[in-house]
Amino acid sequence: MVSLTNRVAVVTGSGRGIGKAIALKFAHAGASIVVTDTDSAGIEQTVREIETLGKKAVGVKCNVANAAEVDELTGKVQEVYPTIDILVNNAGITRDNLLIRMGEEEWDLVLDVNLKGPFLVTKGIARIMMKQRYGRIINVSSVVGLMGNAGQANYASSKGGLIAFTRSVAKELGSRNITCNAVAPGFIETPMTEKLNDEVREGYLKSIPLKRMGISEDVANAVLFLSSDEAGYITGQVISVDGGLFMG
Ligand code: NAI
Repeated sequence: MVSLTNRVAVVTGSGRGIGKAIALKFAHAGASIVVTDTDSAGIEQTVREIETLGKKAVGVKCNVANAAEVDELTGKVQEVYPTIDILVNNAGITRDNLLIRMGEEEWDLVLDVNLKGPFLVTKGIARIMMKQRYGRIINVSSVVGLMGNAGQANYASSKGGLIAFTRSVAKELGSRNITCNAVAPGFIETPMTEKLNDEVREGYLKSIPLKRMGISEDVANAVLFLSSDEAGYITGQVISVDGGLFMG
């Protein structure tokens, strides 16, 4: 079992879904968690569940796309914890539409949250990691960032961009003993995918070799490994967690 004892981890978008599963997985492994999200009720719930495990968590409300709020987040975390060892850029949204119908605001919002957000949070926290000469950064991309997807030009671009961002950060910060990797989940059962209709669902299942949708824990397991000391010689990589949907 991978241990994260004495590690401090910031997980964005951890009020529900995959982010929450990652936060709980990390807590089980012994880390102290900074639960951050735009949804206060979700933050409170995740913090409560971590504390029920007898582990430490603090909640901070933060919109990752807002530079001032991200500054406040890093300030607050430093008041509570002496180090920040792990950052998971998980917060993400969709605003699906066909290209010819997609409004500029749908493009901008998705790019702001899914790509500018990780840039702002990573910039703030990397400063701290560089001083301590240790860090694990994991970006939650998507299979769609590798394959593309009709109706998701904005989302696919943000997630493909996040992979290029991951590799650039890996090259820039490697000399400071900071690794940066991405996971590319496939079709995972969360509130984000609940809204898909049965036809779309069936279509996906046909093309997944493992013949099931993933669950949040499947993604959390890969993120846990990439966050561990054992993954210390892995950087700039993308691990797909998609039941074999994309074998690139
Ligand atoms: P979700 O919608 O269930 O949860 C996302 C969380 O992020 C929510 O708690 C939400 O309040 C928070 N959030 C949204 N905008 C935010 C912002 N601006 N600042 C801070 N927090 C914000 O989504 P899910 O499914 O858990 O997805 C998590 C990540 O995994 C996302 O980046 C998503 O793109 C990615 N992903 C999900 C897949 C799936 O099938 N569910 C597949 C591939 C990738």
